[in-house]
Amino acid sequence: MAGVTVVDHPLVQHKLTLMRRKETSTASFRRLLREISTLLCYEVTRHLDVTTTRIETPMMEMDSPILEGKKLVFASILRAGNGLLEGMLDLVPAARVAHIGLYRDHETLEAVEYYFKAPEDLENRLVIAVDPMLATANSAIMAMDKLKERGARNIRFLCLLAAPEGIARFQAAHPDIPIFTASIDAGLNEKGYIIPGLGDAGDRMYGTK
Ligand code: PRP
Ligand code: URA
Repeated sequence: MAGVTVVDHPLVQHKLTLMRRKETSTASFRRLLREISTLLCYEVTRHLDVTTTRIETPMMEMDSPILEGKKLVFASILRAGNGLLEGMLDLVPAARVAHIGLYRDHETLEAVEYYFKAPEDLENRLVIAVDPMLATANSAIMAMDKLKERGARNIRFLCLLAAPEGIARFQAAHPDIPIFTASIDAGLNEKGYIIPGLGDAGDRMYGTK
């Protein structure tokens, strides 16, 4: 599917299976999400620009690769985005962080905003937005709107599971933003949940149901 990268690495798929199982505990779910997010981070950052810097090893001088440009921004869509954020920060500890507070109204499935805080100079940075679930895409579309309003021009969206309906709506609204996901599931049920999915990601992470 154009514009969508499915990360089909065996470790990602194995951990995802464990997360989907309904008997997986809150503690295990959180640990697995953190582990899987480091693997997804590896993929979403694969094509970052690098330059070289002159260093001295104990043996000799050399020109050695380092990341080019300003520090990355990870934008976590609360609450569940924080589960992905933690593993990403393990891998890129110097990244800046934006928080976008949204919840899905369970009746209308519309996203409702309650918080936004981001670094000032988004226009000069690569922003990687993270949320485990892309269902109707109402939340992700609103989050991308907010990031663009604040100047972000170079955005990637990373999730764990995506519904085909959500991908289509997201791409119609934000055709410039590539999507990275561990799975494209079958679809949505009548309540807007991803099927087969893994249930409510936030509730499973924090044990709130
Ligand atoms: C979940 C999930 C996404 C959203 C996806 O969040 O983390 O943000 O639903 O659904 P959508 O694509 O149909 O908008 P939720 O609203 O349950 O909030 P939470 O993370 O605080 O639990
Ligand atoms: N949000 C979730 O947490 N799970 C879904 O299946 C859909 C939206």
